[in-house]
Amino acid sequence: MGFYDTKEGVEQYLSMAEGYDGRALVDRLAEYLPEGARVLELGIGPGKDLDMLRARYAVVGSDYSQPFLDRYRAAHPEVALVQLDAQTLAGLDGDPGFDAIYSNKVLQHFGPEALAESLASQLAHLREGGAGVLLHGLWHGDGEPEVHAGMTFHYVDRARLEAATPAGLRLAVCEPYTEMEADDSVLAIWLRD
Ligand SMILES: C[S@@+](CC[C@H](N)C(=O)[O-])C[C@H]1O[C@@H](n2cnc3c(N)ncnc32)[C@H](O)[C@@H]1O
Repeated sequence: MGFYDTKEGVEQYLSMAEGYDGRALVDRLAEYLPEGARVLELGIGPGKDLDMLRARYAVVGSDYSQPFLDRYRAAHPEVALVQLDAQTLAGLDGDPGFDAIYSNKVLQHFGPEALAESLASQLAHLREGGAGVLLHGLWHGDGEPEVHAGMTFHYVDRARLEAATPAGLRLAVCEPYTEMEADDSVLAIWLRD
């Protein structure tokens, strides 16, 4: 059982994440998406970003952590939620697909191969004829992975993101930004070819 799968882990995350949200990332989606577009969030956590996303888009929230899903569902029973792993997206069978897929500090748990698999899975769930956008915030860097609280954190830069990009997607934006320390994070936007 991992950090995010326990009530204690969830409580610890909530206090660590106090004061942070993905407003700057969510705002960037508007450059690509009309209001009402269908958006999937991977790894909703406490749902701060999902709350912003659903003010403008038709959203489906997801996470592999049942405690986080239970918590959000109790507060917002009207919002569509699905339990899934962001690496495979298995669990979306029969879904018509999305205009965009979004995450904020989720994909850094994947090494190079898992990241490539996740991006290919996401591409497969972009709606035919839709906007075709993947927008993700990750930790920025070219160093070795680190382990905190039993979780592995991978750092990515443009070269690593390019290397994980499957055929059919183009890395259109790779922009460092600051969350806790200067340029500690990177905004990555892929567009479908
Ligand atoms: C940093 S939090 C996301 C915070 C969120 N963006 C918000 O608005 O508060 C990371 C979330 O990703 C989830 N997560 C981590 N690895 C995952 C995976 N492989 N598949 C799905 N969710 C995952 C965790 O359970 C956690 O809820």
